[in-house]
Amino acid sequence: MEDRMTTSGTLLWMCLVLFVLLTRHTSHSIDVANLSVDPPANIRIIDPGHLGHLKIEWNIPSSLQNLTDCTVRYQLRFYSTYAERWRSVRTVRLSYEAQFDLEKPIQLRMLTLVKGACTNDTEVLGEEVELVHIPEHTGVAGSRIRDFHCVYLNKEYMDCMWKAGSVNPPGSKHYLYYWHRDMPETAECPEYIPPSEFGIGCRFPKQSLLEFSEFNICVNGSSTEGALMPAYFSLEVQNKVKPARVSDLQLLVENELVQVQWSPPAGKVPEQCLEYNLEGTTESTDGSKWQWTNVTEDTTIDFLWNGGSQTTCFRVRSKVNDYCADEGFWSDWSDPVCFPEITVEGRNYEPWNDLALTSILIIIIVAVLIFCLMLLMLSKMCVNRKEQKQAFTLYQEKVHKAFLSPVFH
Ligand SMILES: *[C@@H]1O[C@H](CO)[C@@H](O)[C@H](O)[C@H]1NC(C)=O
Ligand SMILES: *[C@@H]1O[C@H](CO)[C@@H](O)[C@H](O)[C@H]1NC(C)=O
Ligand SMILES: *[C@@H]1O[C@H](CO)[C@@H](O)[C@H](O)[C@H]1NC(C)=O
Ligand SMILES: *[C@@H]1O[C@H](CO)[C@@H](O)[C@H](O)[C@H]1NC(C)=O
Ligand SMILES: *[C@@H]1O[C@H](CO)[C@@H](O)[C@H](O)[C@H]1NC(C)=O
Repeated sequence: MEDRMTTSGTLLWMCLVLFVLLTRHTSHSIDVANLSVDPPANIRIIDPGHLGHLKIEWNIPSSLQNLTDCTVRYQLRFYSTYAERWRSVRTVRLSYEAQFDLEKPIQLRMLTLVKGACTNDTEVLGEEVELVHIPEHTGVAGSRIRDFHCVYLNKEYMDCMWKAGSVNPPGSKHYLYYWHRDMPETAECPEYIPPSEFGIGCRFPKQSLLEFSEFNICVNGSSTEGALMPAYFSLEVQNKVKPARVSDLQLLVENELVQVQWSPPAGKVPEQCLEYNLEGTTESTDGSKWQWTNVTEDTTIDFLWNGGSQTTCFRVRSKVNDYCADEGFWSDWSDPVCFPEITVEGRNYEPWNDLALTSILIIIIVAVLIFCLMLLMLSKMCVNRKEQKQAFTLYQEKVHKAFLSPVFH
């Protein structure tokens, strides 16, 4: 089994081994002119190795082989583990392809329908048979990965992340394989994201993705204790989009009218595919605070400002709308803008403030130093001058004595 799994990329293997014929529903087939409407014969499930995209094949029941004046159709019902409900199809063909979760039992129910001259133009339903197939997997118990999730960021690339299983055998290595209908066979992850606190991951560049189609993933692995239990996922990538952040939220204020406006976030999500969630937080000077949100497809919303002593702060985020996908993720919030403009606590912190403070301190210190220096120089000059003065008077006296005394004396 393991050998086969390791080389099963292109191998077709038939899962006939575990067929269990469980029940036979409608117990009698209706006979019109002794016609017995038997269930399809030789029903089989074929796994082409596309990670859950299986082909179901069957044959016409031998009792209906020589029917010429009637059409034979088949009804296939299967339990869709992803949709969590039974799905039903009717077809004249002898095969059908569908997506199944390979970690869960595959349940099928089939019957034959005959209509035409041979049945006097009434549709005759045959008996229904049920088949259950349990896919076989081998691996260290408890080693199946956990918390698998994917985000298609701004439709530029998709990151899928996961965490190791509850049992993480030594030497564990994880591998991701994927497949969509434009690929002839499965391929390994285009770019692994190295393990970090967020787990282990795989990055899919845009060109490796296909929207509006099953995107099948298998995460398996190896360890010194043997293979890790494989995990299977099937998603549609257009449902995993997280748009970029709105970066230019602004307010236009004209008299009492406050217009909040923004542009669609830059990126690859078409503008008509976006909806927005505008959040307003109003805070009165008395400290009371309330919050409201609006969801809109416009990029502008008008408000009347009642001129009171209150401040409203707005922020916006975006998501893919119902027209373009069944689900999606909200983008990160934009930076808030407020009216009337205030400095929001903790938000207007700027490293400049610190820098300015230090500069001012340095300037003050330098100024004080210079002042001290000047004082010192001044005091020195004063002392010098005193000495000069003293020297001068001494000199004067001497000169006086030397030259003038003989004249006057
Ligand atoms: C993991 O799954 C892929 C795709 O089915 C397969 O080709 C590969 O051999 C598997 N690896 C291990 C270690 O089981
Ligand atoms: C239908 O089959 C029964 C026995 O199986 C036979 O007796 C009867 O004649 C058949 N009827 C027709 C219309 O062929
Ligand atoms: C259908 O016809 C073939 C030959 O034409 C014959 O061998 C076969 O037995 C027939 N099958 C039935 C169910 O009548
Ligand atoms: C076929 O249907 C018609 C009306 O729908 C009815 O009159 C006729 O008796 C039916 N024939 C048989 C053989 O059941
Ligand atoms: C925004 O939502 C609030 C409450 O949900 C509503 O009262 C208000 O009219 C909405 N504003 C606009 C502009 O749609």
